[in-house]
Amino acid sequence: MTSSFLRRPGLWLALLPLACGRLGAQGVDIVPRPLHVETAADSFRLRSDMAITCDAPLAPQARYLQETLAGPTGWDLELRPGARRADIRLTLADSASLPAEGYRLTVERRRVSIEAADAAGAFYGVQSLLQLFPPEVYDRVRRRGVSWAAPCVRISDAPNRPWRGMMLDVARYFFDKEFVKKYIDMMAMYKLNRLQLHMIDDSGWRLEIKKYPRLTQVGAWAGPDENRLGGYYTQDDMRELIAYARVRGVEIVPELEFPAHILSAIVAYPELGCTGEQHKVPVQHFISRDLLCVGKESSLRFLEDVLDEVCALFPSPVIGIGGDEAVYTRWESCPRCRAVMEREGLAKASELQGWLTNVVARMAARRGRTVLGWEEIIQRGPVETPVTALIWHNVADTIQATRTGHKAVLTPCTHLYFDFPEGATPGEVKHATWMPPIPLEKTYGIEVNDYAPTSTVVGVQGSMWADQFIHGTTLQEIALIDENRSERYMEYFTFPRLLALAEVAWTPKALRSYPSFLSRLSRQYARLDAKGCGYRVPEPVIAATEPAGDSLRVTLAPAVAGAPIVYTTDGSYPTIHSARYTAPVTVARAADLRAMTVVSPRHYSLPTYMPPDYSAYAAYGTFTAAWKPLDLQPGPATWRLDCSGKVTANGTYDVTFVQTRGSKALRLGRLRLVKRDAVSAEAAPADNTGGHHTYTLTVTDFEAGTPYYLEVETDAGGTNDSAGLVFVRKH
Ligand code: ACM
Ligand code: ZN
Repeated sequence: MTSSFLRRPGLWLALLPLACGRLGAQGVDIVPRPLHVETAADSFRLRSDMAITCDAPLAPQARYLQETLAGPTGWDLELRPGARRADIRLTLADSASLPAEGYRLTVERRRVSIEAADAAGAFYGVQSLLQLFPPEVYDRVRRRGVSWAAPCVRISDAPNRPWRGMMLDVARYFFDKEFVKKYIDMMAMYKLNRLQLHMIDDSGWRLEIKKYPRLTQVGAWAGPDENRLGGYYTQDDMRELIAYARVRGVEIVPELEFPAHILSAIVAYPELGCTGEQHKVPVQHFISRDLLCVGKESSLRFLEDVLDEVCALFPSPVIGIGGDEAVYTRWESCPRCRAVMEREGLAKASELQGWLTNVVARMAARRGRTVLGWEEIIQRGPVETPVTALIWHNVADTIQATRTGHKAVLTPCTHLYFDFPEGATPGEVKHATWMPPIPLEKTYGIEVNDYAPTSTVVGVQGSMWADQFIHGTTLQEIALIDENRSERYMEYFTFPRLLALAEVAWTPKALRSYPSFLSRLSRQYARLDAKGCGYRVPEPVIAATEPAGDSLRVTLAPAVAGAPIVYTTDGSYPTIHSARYTAPVTVARAADLRAMTVVSPRHYSLPTYMPPDYSAYAAYGTFTAAWKPLDLQPGPATWRLDCSGKVTANGTYDVTFVQTRGSKALRLGRLRLVKRDAVSAEAAPADNTGGHHTYTLTVTDFEAGTPYYLEVETDAGGTNDSAGLVFVRKH
C-alpha cells in the first residue's frame, strides 16, 4: 500500500461497475471479477517517457508489459530491471502476504505498482492493468489519438481454484502453432493457466516422437497423398509453444490417448492393435473400436518410450493419458489381452483399463509425474497412484474422486463443452448435436461444489473438441463468419463462454453475479475485437410479446449494452443497414420479425427467430422436423430427415409423425434410424393410413458426436398437399 492511499483514504470508493454508455468505454470492467477493488475519481496517464522496473525474477512479465504497450502506443518504454525508481513497478511480495498467483495492483495518478506472490501473480496484475486501459491497448498496430489513461484503483486479487483450464482438440483438426499461441494469449488475458492439448485421436497423431517416426509421417495425415490434410508439431515447435505459454502463466498439459481413440498410431504401427489389421486415418468423424493391445510387451514399451520423450519435452507435472470411451470388444476377443486378464485375475475386459491406468501411473511416477485422464480412468477399478480425473458427465462424480484419493477437474459436457452452440438459432454453424445447446448463462451457472471439506476438486476446464471440424468436412458457412476456416469457428464457439469459465474458476461464488458479468462482458467485446479474436455476438433479447389486435407487439432488449439492434418485419434476413430498433415493433406473425445485434460493421449476431409454438404436442417429445406441401413426393418415396441431437444415448425412442394438413392421409412405411450410412435401428410400417403414427426404435450403438438421420418410406397417395410435424421422445 502506498502512502498516498493512507493520506487520501476518502477518495476511494467501493467498486460498482461504472455505467458507461459507449461500447468499450473505460471503467473497471475486469473479467474475471477481482476479489477486492476500490476506485478513485482520478486516473493514471501513460506517457512515452515513462519507465518500467521490476524485481529480477519478474523480468519476463515486465518485458511482456513493455512489448504489449509498444504496439498500440508506438512507445518504447524504458525497461530498467532492478531500478529503484520507475513509473510502473513489478515487485515480489513476501510470500506470506499473498496467496499463490495473487497480486496487488495499485494505480495512482503518477505511478502504477504491481506486487505479486509469484511470476503468475505479476502476469495477472499486468492483465488487470491492461483491462483498465482503453480497449485499443490490445492492438498490434499503432493507434494514434487514444488517451492511454487508466482509472486509479486499488485491487487485491487471487484465484479461487488453482486449475483453470481449456482443452483444445488439435488431433481432430490440426491447429498450427500461430493459432495455438493466439489461444494461449486469449486464455492468459482471462487468467486461465492450463492448456490441455489433446494431441492424439483416431484422426491424427500430432506430436513428433523421434523413436516412432511413422506416428507423424503416417498418423498425422488423412486423405489421398496428393491432397492430404493434417499436420503435427515438431519437438522444436512444441518447445517454442511451451516457452510462449510459460511467460503467460499457462502450463501446457500434453494429452496422449489410449486405450481407445488411438487409431492414428495403429495406422502407423498396426502391431499396436489387437488384430494387426492395416487401417486408414479417417477423414470423417469416427470413433474407432480398435484399442491399444495391452497383451503385447511391445505396446507397453511403446508407452514407456513415448512417455520418455513427452516427459523430456514438457515440464508439466501432470501428463494426460486420455482413457475415455473405450468399448472393450477387441480386448475381449484378443487372446493376448485375455491372457493378461487371466494373469491379473480380472473378470471383465473393462477392468483391464483399470489395470492399464495403474501400470501407466507407475510409469509416470518413475519419471516424477502424475497422470490426468478422463473420468473413466478412476471408474474401471481401483487406481493406487493418485491421479487427476477430468469429470465430464456428472459433477457429483467428484465425490468418488475425493473418496478414493484422486484429484478432480470439472469439465462437464452439459456446461463446458464449447463444441455445442450457445443457442438453437437457425443459421448456427456446424456443431456437435448429441446434447442441447449450452447458453452463456448455463456455463456461468455451473455448480462447482466441493461436497466435502476434504474436497479434491482443483478446478474447472472448458473442452473445445474439434471432431465437427475434422479435416475433410465441408463446413457450413454463415454470413457472419464469412470464411471457411476452422480457426474462426473455434473462436466463435470459445468466446464469450471462455470469459464465463474464467470467472467461475477465478472468482469465489459469493462474488459471482450473472448481471454483473453481462455488464462487464458488454465492454469486453471491444477488447476481443482489438485482439483480433472472433466471438459469437448474442442476438437481441425478446423481452415481451403481446397481442395487438390480429398482430403481435414485440419488445426487444439489447444483449450487448450500447450496441444497436437492427431489424426487418417481413421475415427477411436483416443487414447492418436495416431499420434501427428504438421502440416496440408490431408484426403480423412472430416469424416476420428478424432482429440482430450489431457490435461493429464486421461483427453482428444471427437474426432472432421466434419458433412456432408446439406445446400442444408436448406429449410426443421434442419437435424434430416439419414437412410442407410439395416437400414429399406424391408417390412412394423415402424421406430422410436429420434427427441429430434428438438421439442422445442408448435406449428406446418414440418417433411420432403428425399430419396436420392434406387431402389424403400420408401412408407411412418402414422407419430406419441411420448413423453415418449404417442402419442403427428399424421399425415396422405403420398399420394405419391416417398420417399419424408413433414408431418405437431401440438404439444400442449410440456414438456421441455422430449425426443421426431418420429415413421413412412415404406414399402420399398421388397428392403433394400434405403437411405435418415429427417429434422424438426418449423413454
Ligand atoms: C469425451 O468427451 N469423450 C471425453
Ligand atoms: Zn490385444
